[in-house]
Amino acid sequence: MLDIYTLGDEVLREPCERVSEFDSALAMLTDAMFETMIDADGVGLAAPQVGVSRRFFVVDTRREGERLAFFNPEIVETSDDSVPYEEGCLSVPGLYHDVMRPSRVTVHAQDINGKGFTLQASGLLARVIQHEYDHLEGRLFIDRLDEKEKEKMNALWQRRQKKEQKKRKKK
Ligand code: NI
Repeated sequence: MLDIYTLGDEVLREPCERVSEFDSALAMLTDAMFETMIDADGVGLAAPQVGVSRRFFVVDTRREGERLAFFNPEIVETSDDSVPYEEGCLSVPGLYHDVMRPSRVTVHAQDINGKGFTLQASGLLARVIQHEYDHLEGRLFIDRLDEKEKEKMNALWQRRQKKEQKKRKKK
């Protein structure tokens, strides 16, 4: 299992670099990311979340045909609507909030062999793709909230961190 970096870790805030080599090391890392994500009960995981500042992410919505890896993805089209959906993030554990995003996207990406593909997604898959894509730009879902809600989430996070520290001290 890989370590998952959390809010406050610098790597989550850096724009990632393109993937240029589709070698066996990349394949192994991708497999490990799938395992780590499933183990943590997540539906998506981006490379910076495991400390790798590269443009790729994995998705498994537990629906048939929705176990996918996207390398150098570009969101080339989004629907005009904007819909709410409660998001969470393995890098911001314990916090959840409705986020507004387009309901459908078209994404261009490369697969594990570097071969290009285009995918149209809606529903949960479209949601996860947009959330994970944000990670590659150094953005987290809480950045998508308005100032007031963002402050609330940050306060919740700080409180959580303090509690965790206390727990650790007791041990
Ligand atoms: Ni996330």
